[in-house]
Amino acid sequence: TDLAHIRNFSIVAHIDHGKSTLADRLIQETKTVADRDMKEQLLDSMDIERERGITIKAQTVRLEYEADNGEQYVLNLIDTPGHVDFAYEVSRSMRAVEGSLLVVDSTQGVEAQTLANVYQAIDADHEIVPVLNKIDLPASDCERVAEQIEDVIGIDASGAIQVSAKTGVGIHEVLEAIVTHLPAPTGTLDAPLKAMLVDSWYDPYLGVVVLVRIMDGKLRKGDRIRMMQTGAIYPVDRVGVFRPGMMPVDELGPGEIGFITASIKQVRDTKVGDTITTEKKGCEAPLPGFHPSVPVVFCGLFPVDSNEFEDLRDAIEKLALNDASFSHEMETSAALGFGFRCGFLGLLHLEVIRDRLEREYDIDLITTAPSVVYQIHMKDGTLRELHNPADMPDPSHIETIEEPRIKATILVPDDYLGDVLKLCQDRRGIQLDLTYAGSRAMVVYDLPLNEVVFDFYDRLKSVTKGYASFDYQLTGYRADNLVKMQILVNEEPVDALSIMVHRDRAETRGRAMVEKLKDLIPRHMFKIPIQAAIGGKVIARETLSALRKDVTAKCYGGDATRKKKLLEKQKAGKKKMRQFGKVDIPQEAFISALKMD
Ligand code: GTP
Repeated sequence: TDLAHIRNFSIVAHIDHGKSTLADRLIQETKTVADRDMKEQLLDSMDIERERGITIKAQTVRLEYEADNGEQYVLNLIDTPGHVDFAYEVSRSMRAVEGSLLVVDSTQGVEAQTLANVYQAIDADHEIVPVLNKIDLPASDCERVAEQIEDVIGIDASGAIQVSAKTGVGIHEVLEAIVTHLPAPTGTLDAPLKAMLVDSWYDPYLGVVVLVRIMDGKLRKGDRIRMMQTGAIYPVDRVGVFRPGMMPVDELGPGEIGFITASIKQVRDTKVGDTITTEKKGCEAPLPGFHPSVPVVFCGLFPVDSNEFEDLRDAIEKLALNDASFSHEMETSAALGFGFRCGFLGLLHLEVIRDRLEREYDIDLITTAPSVVYQIHMKDGTLRELHNPADMPDPSHIETIEEPRIKATILVPDDYLGDVLKLCQDRRGIQLDLTYAGSRAMVVYDLPLNEVVFDFYDRLKSVTKGYASFDYQLTGYRADNLVKMQILVNEEPVDALSIMVHRDRAETRGRAMVEKLKDLIPRHMFKIPIQAAIGGKVIARETLSALRKDVTAKCYGGDATRKKKLLEKQKAGKKKMRQFGKVDIPQEAFISALKMD
């Protein structure tokens, strides 16, 4: 196709504002899929995504559209991931297209992820077409939301298209706007091949599939290509486009988006953002701005039943095949036995992987406290990265410890602003900005990632009754007074409960943890001291009193069914316990103990 008849675009939106539904309607309206084959949310392939309503892997579809001007166009939609954890993937895929549809739910308005994503689009120099969705709903207020888009984002929303992705109203107008408002791509056919590696995933039949955007030159089956970052060379087996199923084509030229396969063994060999060229007579300079995405949150995953270790290993290896940003290495814990230390892009990523292990592979897991990556400057001048509090070096050899900081943007209705400020303040936040848009406030905080990884998002949702939206980006590392806090149960340190904490917050957190654990650990036949300690110094302590002989004794009156229930409950509980020295600790204790109320 000649460049003038190509349009490449993405859809940016806050979660649930209707991105996938709109994509489905565009596919349907252009008859890319026969109506009878149309499934809801065609682009969200994995079940878990469907259930959670989130799109994780970017996917793409090529639409063919005859515009009102009578000309035939190729429209390439790249579906970008909507969540903060995948910000880097979003930013790369934005650079593969020239324009964006900015979808805003007209019953809700602009949210934190609308902002984060649209700023990425603006950064990538996109032409932006605002689309107001869900106009079929009575609560829809297009005028207010258009105004908000102009106030908060600062782009012209006078031509915003009003649609219902549900009923199909306005979809034709969206297609026309893509053709008339978005620029055609540029590129040179006679130049050496220069293509961007936008995404890649593992397909059980084809091996690694690579999504590419051709900048200059052309890419054909049989070409020998070179990945400019890794230096690896592969012969291209297949070239094709998504309609939305895979369809082979002879070649891809400038401005086009499609896929290749090239007997690449693992997703790890393909770096999102890398430049692909030909082995011989390749292009000189790679595309600018490449950096590999690195895990920022680590936690230990251990099987509840230690006999399931091999199953866990298989499952983790299978998942890693398809996810280059998920890292894992074996870990042994004195308390939990064999497991894996895993690295994730963020908390959602962690949750998705954990859920998949439990549900798809049916493995009960103990997840240890998520920890961020600390940079430890040693007195001997060396720098160490700490992924696990258990590996903390002797403090007397440490010069400083630096922790990652984030810039968090929170949008919240006025009424809840006070609670949000308090939450951020409690988490060692530094306020950077506070502005208003209508009855909503936008606050920007500098926060330690450490204070956010565990339950910040849950707390934010609960103090704002779900009305706040949140987004963050990593800003860098800063030194602070950080220490490792251990938890001792019956005088034995439980390594899986060790956390890194700010010295000023250690007492409060230690106290909260031992109190929680006192409620979570069942009573035994002996007294159990539960302590929080820094170095050798105990900073908080609770004692779990010994059990009376008969657990059912307190159920006076001889209510037989109640006694039976209690005993059954204890039996069921047993299965999910781990033994630490002489003490049984239930699985949920590892997570619950860390939550702060
Ligand atoms: P993520 O994939 O999680 O980013 O969400 P999304 O933005 O793709 O939203 P999705 O398309 O999954 O839509 C979210 C919900 O809104 C779904 O329940 C849709 O059925 C519903 N929805 C989408 N568009 C419309 C619309 O125009 N009208 C109405 N009434 N509901 C809509």
